[in-house]
Amino acid sequence: MSDWVLDVPLGTERLELREHRAGDLEDLLVFHGDPQVTRYTPWPVRDRQQTGAALDKRLTLTHAAGPGQAISLAVVERASSTVIGEVMLMRRSDSTAELGYAIRTDRWGQGLASEAVAALLDGAAALGVTEVRAVVVDGNDASVRLLGRMGFTELGVPGPPAKDGSPTRTFALTLG
Ligand SMILES: CC(C)(COP(=O)(O)OP(=O)(O)OC[C@H]1O[C@@H](n2cnc3c(N)ncnc32)[C@H](O)[C@@H]1OP(=O)(O)O)[C@@H](O)C(=O)NCCC(=O)NCCS
Repeated sequence: MSDWVLDVPLGTERLELREHRAGDLEDLLVFHGDPQVTRYTPWPVRDRQQTGAALDKRLTLTHAAGPGQAISLAVVERASSTVIGEVMLMRRSDSTAELGYAIRTDRWGQGLASEAVAALLDGAAALGVTEVRAVVVDGNDASVRLLGRMGFTELGVPGPPAKDGSPTRTFALTLG
């Protein structure tokens, strides 16, 4: 089983996706500490200390050697040199992965999340990933629209319940 190592940074017109850095804490706190952002995420709203611990964990998520391991990248807005969000690729098998993403609220509605996710999907394809799945909490319509733009289709089977017990929906995209 080969290690998954993305050829970072992944660049787009407005963004750079790179490994997290210890100096990212202030930027991360803006969205990890925002209940609007964490409403539908698997993780809770975080204070400074909890965001620091989450960042420490992300500093280690640079490659995925086997199932259950994840790669997390900081989404840097070129214009402001600010980390405005993050994307995550969780390895499920040799060729399948699960996707995660979050963007700070004042950057919603500009296509930046779509731009970041498209870059991550290109990176996943380059690793030989052939199917990507995403689990969305019922009611997270912005996320459903994003997945639709990326070409995902709904599988019609629920995913594991959300952190508050809400039902979830599962989406999949075939790559390559
Ligand atoms: C899910 C999330 C990333 C979506 O963010 P977003 O900004 O709506 O997504 P996009 O970057 O794709 O932007 C799309 C919107 O920008 C608009 N837009 C403006 N300029 C655009 C451009 N150049 N390209 C594409 N869309 C553009 C689109 O019309 C669309 O609006 P709509 O959703 O009202 O139709 C964001 O809501 C978020 O971070 N939520 C919290 C975390 C979360 O729930 N994560 C998902 C867990 S499954």
